[in-house]
Amino acid sequence: MDQNYRLAIFASGKGSNAEAIIKYFKQHPSITIELIVSNNPQALVLERAKKYGIPTLVLNRRQFESEIAVKLSDYQITHIVLAGFLWLIPPSLLKAFPHKIINIHPALLPKFGGKGMYGMKIHQLVQSSNEKETGITIHVVDEKYDEGEILYQHKCEVVSEDTPEEIADRVHQLEYAWYPKIIERWILNRMESS
Ligand code: GRF
Repeated sequence: MDQNYRLAIFASGKGSNAEAIIKYFKQHPSITIELIVSNNPQALVLERAKKYGIPTLVLNRRQFESEIAVKLSDYQITHIVLAGFLWLIPPSLLKAFPHKIINIHPALLPKFGGKGMYGMKIHQLVQSSNEKETGITIHVVDEKYDEGEILYQHKCEVVSEDTPEEIADRVHQLEYAWYPKIIERWILNRMESS
């Protein structure tokens, strides 16, 4: 029997990863992007979603904590993908989606992770700490920031002449190339082919 997997993407900002994911799954036989959830009514990700005809939901903190599980069941969501989403996932949602929520972090966890570690701050720190490499980490979401089981990491080189912007750009390219593929393997239980 064919199974259908219905994804919600949670994003707070630009949404360039969300768009890469939307494009990747556009013609997919069993995985569809059903909903974009944001905490930020100004987020560019909402414009991107509109372009692809994907419904969006903007929730404030109270709504997010009390209503999100119901909203997701209205859309029959089976998996959640975080792509630049800045709020912690409430325990009730973790319980409703056990091992069914993943996140991407733009560094090699456990380095440069945790509360407040997002955006350019990470790449600035990578540069000022004279790291020789950085990369991406895709991990299962639990009740803490950036601490769930690591599913996949991919490295790239950092050289001393790099600016934080150049590092960010290199990491973004890795994100676009790998996050959609790893989402697919994770959902279809094919992580061993990573
Ligand atoms: C990405 O670097 C992702 O790793 C992190 O937040 C950033 C989101 O960028 N979690 P965008 O909104 O997808 O452009």
